[in-house]
Amino acid sequence: MHDQHLLDIAATYGTPCYVYDTAIVERQIHNLRQYFSNAHIYYALKANPYHGILELFQQHNFGAEVISQGEIKAAREAALPLLVGGPRQDEAMLACALEHDDIGYISLDSASQWQNWQEVHHAQQQSQEVMPKGNLLIRLNPQLDPKTHPHLATGAADSKFGLPLEQVHTLATRLGAHLCGFHVHAGSQISDISIYDAILTQMEQLFRTFPQAKSLNLGGGFAVPTFDMAAFAAKIQPFVAEHGLELILEPGRFLVAEAGVLLTRVLHHKKGQRNHVICDASMATLLRPALYNAEHPIRKLGAQEGVPEVVDIQGCLCENSDILGRARRLPPICKGDILVIEQAGAYGSSMASAYAGSSPANEVMIDSRQLP
Ligand code: LLP
Repeated sequence: MHDQHLLDIAATYGTPCYVYDTAIVERQIHNLRQYFSNAHIYYALKANPYHGILELFQQHNFGAEVISQGEIKAAREAALPLLVGGPRQDEAMLACALEHDDIGYISLDSASQWQNWQEVHHAQQQSQEVMPKGNLLIRLNPQLDPKTHPHLATGAADSKFGLPLEQVHTLATRLGAHLCGFHVHAGSQISDISIYDAILTQMEQLFRTFPQAKSLNLGGGFAVPTFDMAAFAAKIQPFVAEHGLELILEPGRFLVAEAGVLLTRVLHHKKGQRNHVICDASMATLLRPALYNAEHPIRKLGAQEGVPEVVDIQGCLCENSDILGRARRLPPICKGDILVIEQAGAYGSSMASAYAGSSPANEVMIDSRQLP
């Protein structure tokens, strides 16, 4: 997207404003599909549930990984089949999930969730039947260090996600013929693919012990912008072929992060001990820098003349954690300038809040291939 297009969007829609580019989502779909042409892709809807993005995934025959009733509703509005997972899976959520016949997979995160599914299914069907056969996965906690931010290390031993290997065995035995396969999502922003060696070792044990299980869900977590998809595929595909498995992936960030930018307007520039640029976006618009120290590239639109300065790009709310970018070297900045915060298509708008009376940012989807 050229600067002038972004300036026009800021003028038309106001700021803060998220802008998504269809061309980049499609590029990422291609980047994934070139290595995983046959995998079942269930987009992690929590990354960005914007309807235009979901429609695009629907056209590419993706499903949606969902963890709440709100996400089930969003996936259904875009006709995406469901992979139901996550720590919630309470009665109300499962009743909602079972209202329609669009569940591709269920990923059990605990034994009590299996109990819930049976009870809710039984109550709805008024029958003795247990679950429809063949779509249940059990989520393994691989108990390793996925080498990412601690908030995102869902495969760490002290994390609440999944079950340790022995307990996966126990639950898999209980499920018997209903067992379809195994799931792992070791963390988010993973760039060291050597962690998949330990994961495949544990998976190997499981698939040997439970030969009826034929599905392997390796989750998402592919770091942006550094994940080596070719090397990942080279590690995974031989395992999948050797065991005759179908592969499921649940990428979120990889598909949408780079397709989105956040436009924000400079409200004030003041100098104290540091150089503070105060913007009309905040941690209520984009939480990632405050919560994970995430570093999103930031640039100024329009005139670039003058001696660059090192500035802190701050939000407009009342706490020190309300920051968008620390110590950035940018051309001189004044009131009214528009800044672009990049790689904001994933976990940007979806993590926004109404903190301190903040209003939601606008969201716009364009196709940069169609622009003049
Ligand atoms: N599958 C499961 C079971 C997940 O929990 C997640 C993300 C994904 C797939 C997709 O992960 P991805 O490919 O997007 O890394 N708010 C954080 C990210 C939290 C991810 C939570 N689970 C952030 O802004 O970085």
